[in-house]
Amino acid sequence: MMSTDVKKTFFIETFGCQMNKSDSELMSLSLSQNGFTTAADVDTADIVIYNTCSVREHAENRVISRIRSRRRAASDERQIIVVAGCMAQRIGIVLIENKIADIVVGPYQSPGIGRFIRNYLDSAGGRSFLSQEMDDFSGRINPGLYTIGGDSAWHRWVTITHGCENNCSYCIVPRVRGDLISFPSAQILGYIRGLSEHGAKEITLLGQNVNQYGTDSGDMPFHVLLGHAAAIPGIERVNFLTSHPKDFNDGIIRAISEHGNISRSIHLPLQSGSDRILKIMNRGYQLRDYMTIVEKIDRELGNYSLSTDLIVGFPGESRDEFDATLRAVESIRFDEAFTYAYSPREGTPAFPLKETISRREKIARLQELIALQRGISRLKLKERIDLVEETIIERFSKKSDDRVMGRTNLNHIVITEGTEDDFGKKVMIKIDGIRGNTLQGTRIA
Ligand code: SAM
Ligand code: SF4
Ligand code: F3S
Repeated sequence: MMSTDVKKTFFIETFGCQMNKSDSELMSLSLSQNGFTTAADVDTADIVIYNTCSVREHAENRVISRIRSRRRAASDERQIIVVAGCMAQRIGIVLIENKIADIVVGPYQSPGIGRFIRNYLDSAGGRSFLSQEMDDFSGRINPGLYTIGGDSAWHRWVTITHGCENNCSYCIVPRVRGDLISFPSAQILGYIRGLSEHGAKEITLLGQNVNQYGTDSGDMPFHVLLGHAAAIPGIERVNFLTSHPKDFNDGIIRAISEHGNISRSIHLPLQSGSDRILKIMNRGYQLRDYMTIVEKIDRELGNYSLSTDLIVGFPGESRDEFDATLRAVESIRFDEAFTYAYSPREGTPAFPLKETISRREKIARLQELIALQRGISRLKLKERIDLVEETIIERFSKKSDDRVMGRTNLNHIVITEGTEDDFGKKVMIKIDGIRGNTLQGTRIA
């Protein structure tokens, strides 16, 4: 058993959604506050933390095989393996019993992880630690979640809700993250003010369905919160993720058009173009409802980008129903689509439904959809050429040290000239062309 006298180092690998990225920042902070330091790389770390995702079987299998090969690489048992996040919540006991993890920490225990690991190290002879009880959900609104610091000084994640109660029939998230809980708006807005005073310029409001904010607690509706967040001095861009077509209302579009600093990149998962499949998915809208929202966004905002999530091969999806998804993609012309092959998840309402197409057919449909969307994405990128885009510079370009990468207000990546001093700055860039899938531009201000 290790002693805690010497400083221990940690390395976090994050899988899954933005909520996990945000939780990883909380873990990092909690570990630092408890005397741990960041390791240079995974090989030299004393503690390796996998912040995991359960949304698809493939996502879980990938992490398990990564952990197994890490265990082999660290055959002297020097490294402590911690599994955090949604897979920890779903199958934590199995991970401990099979010696895949030494410590398992559910998604809402991220702020306490430093203390857990310290106790683990101090408990002579202890071999494992498990904290993923469903009851722990009750303690998940914790003022300590709101802490200043993290990976990037100018961009901060701001979690506004935990959990989800939409029960889309394919989705494991409500099972691993529990019911919807909205954080109090006064606490959220106070936190954003604090972040701004500490140099944050850009925030992303996070929730599984942010549009449902306040519906559990009677707090202000989402579009009002969005407007208040955008009005906080010093905040130059507000992003929000994820929206849901059944709850995306006119108030949100109005808030975006009234506040120039709310991102015009809207992520609105469609999932399928077939009304029959949408119904079995329990999504609560039909394709024409979705089209109505897109028409309104188009009319009110003009300049915007739209991204989506699509699932192919849901149980019972016929060729005609898949074609309906292709036609929807052609007519809506998304800037980007995240496309997934349906993965049955035990415990979800769709799990008992019999899969009706082979894996090969599912993958063939996925590729057909990807190819269609790729062409549309490229055409939409080309439409940006010669326009001037408001861009926040994030970091050096991967390919060169005298070029920097930023994100436009429509969430397109753009490469331009710049230095480290530009990180976090808002600049105006004229788009000159495209290289690969990336816009290239020249700074004009
Ligand atoms: N709350 C967000 C939403 O409603 O879109 C994110 C949900 S999930 C974390 C992200 C995406 O994964 C979903 O939009 C859906 O397209 C996909 N997904 C979820 N469960 C899936 C499953 N069982 N198989 C395939 N894709 C799935
Ligand atoms: Fe899952 Fe649906 Fe909730 Fe998104 S809205 S997290 S897809 S149940
Ligand atoms: Fe995955 Fe959990 Fe997010 S299942 S997508 S990490 S909420």
